[in-house]
Amino acid sequence: MSQRPPVKDWATDFDHLDQRWINDPFPIWDDMRKRCPIAHTDRFMGVYFPSRYEDVRAVAYDTEHFSSRRIIVRETPPPRIPAPPITSDPPEHRPARMVLLPPFTPDAMKKLEPRARALANELIDKFAKRGSADAAVEYAQEIPVRLIAHMLGLPEADGNLYRKWIKMVLEDGITDVSIAVEAAGEMTHYFMGYVHQRTEKPGDDLISYLIKARHNGQPLSVENVIGSLRLLLIAGIDTTWSGIGSCIWHLATHPEDRRRLVAEPALMPTAIEEFLRAYAPVTMAREVVKETKLNGCTFKPGQMVLLSFPAANRDPAMFPDADKVIIDRKENRHAAFGLGIHRCVGSNLARLEMTVAVEELLKRIPDFGLAGEVTWSEGTVRGPRKLPIRF
Ligand code: HEM
Repeated sequence: MSQRPPVKDWATDFDHLDQRWINDPFPIWDDMRKRCPIAHTDRFMGVYFPSRYEDVRAVAYDTEHFSSRRIIVRETPPPRIPAPPITSDPPEHRPARMVLLPPFTPDAMKKLEPRARALANELIDKFAKRGSADAAVEYAQEIPVRLIAHMLGLPEADGNLYRKWIKMVLEDGITDVSIAVEAAGEMTHYFMGYVHQRTEKPGDDLISYLIKARHNGQPLSVENVIGSLRLLLIAGIDTTWSGIGSCIWHLATHPEDRRRLVAEPALMPTAIEEFLRAYAPVTMAREVVKETKLNGCTFKPGQMVLLSFPAANRDPAMFPDADKVIIDRKENRHAAFGLGIHRCVGSNLARLEMTVAVEELLKRIPDFGLAGEVTWSEGTVRGPRKLPIRF
């Protein structure tokens, strides 16, 4: 974490890299929602922060004024690193998205489930007898890395490389864009090798699928294939690793919920949705491309909007007792997977991974608690990065 000038007022000078925001953003968002529902900061070259569900929804649906060509708030303007469909606007967005949907249907995920359960158990085997573990490092982060590598047809052993790139793009690259560019270059080089290889000798994996995919009878350009591969790797790992980590953090710090889930495993689907709502990992951004007004606030072109699905999910106007985690919450139309045309393509995979990870852990280790200091990631994706547990 870089040393940052202290925040004077969250409504007019917020900084999402401030340590207080990273550790516990919820009271800050509550305050902003009450005092100034669309906050603004001059930091990061000017950023708006809507904290109410309705305003986040309005921005997400308005692709005319708010573009996805920049989706991360950075210290300096980045060179374009396309990762379609997440960085595309209409009309280019739809074809790039449609091509990615079939590999992530619920049916496709069912086929992956036995692999996911076996993997979770292999990981638990390594620490079960020890009586302690870092649940973020030894468990949560490994599951999505290995499953997405399996789907893409990449070596599962390259996990450290993927995590290095993700940190460079989503964390270190926020304050030093050259780091994000360097990671994008390394990823392009890495994927190019596999694209050549699978063009020669196709397999039963997602890289081969993208090479074979057609839009209007035409193959996707190599840039499109590589961009989507970069996106799948980044979108598929950090997010779900954070989601799994937050579930485990909650269960480690709320023994009553943990005991209830062990006793009533049928609550798992509502519990996972509630964890997704309360600890939504992903905050995206949009660039204002045309001046517009929303809820009394004028949005100026060239500035960014921090699109906080996590803050929307804590809005009491949308969710009664928004700050309470209620594992059998009946109605829960949360925005953790986004809203509008960019809604998450991998939500079925994410739900599968989170459910399997929590179920298998509770089956093998039903009783656990925190064993030391927890650290949280900063920036676009929020989740525990160190999560020591004892059992
Ligand atoms: C808990 C885990 C996850 C969360 C919370 C999450 C969240 C999100 C959110 C909020 C968006 C919308 C972005 C925007 O509006 O700009 C999104 C888009 C996307 N996600 Fe996820 N995601 C997760 C897991 C995954 C996984 C496992 C994959 C695939 C491997 C994936 C692939 C994508 C893709 C391709 C998009 C872009 C869709 C588009 O632009 O049309 N995500 N995700």
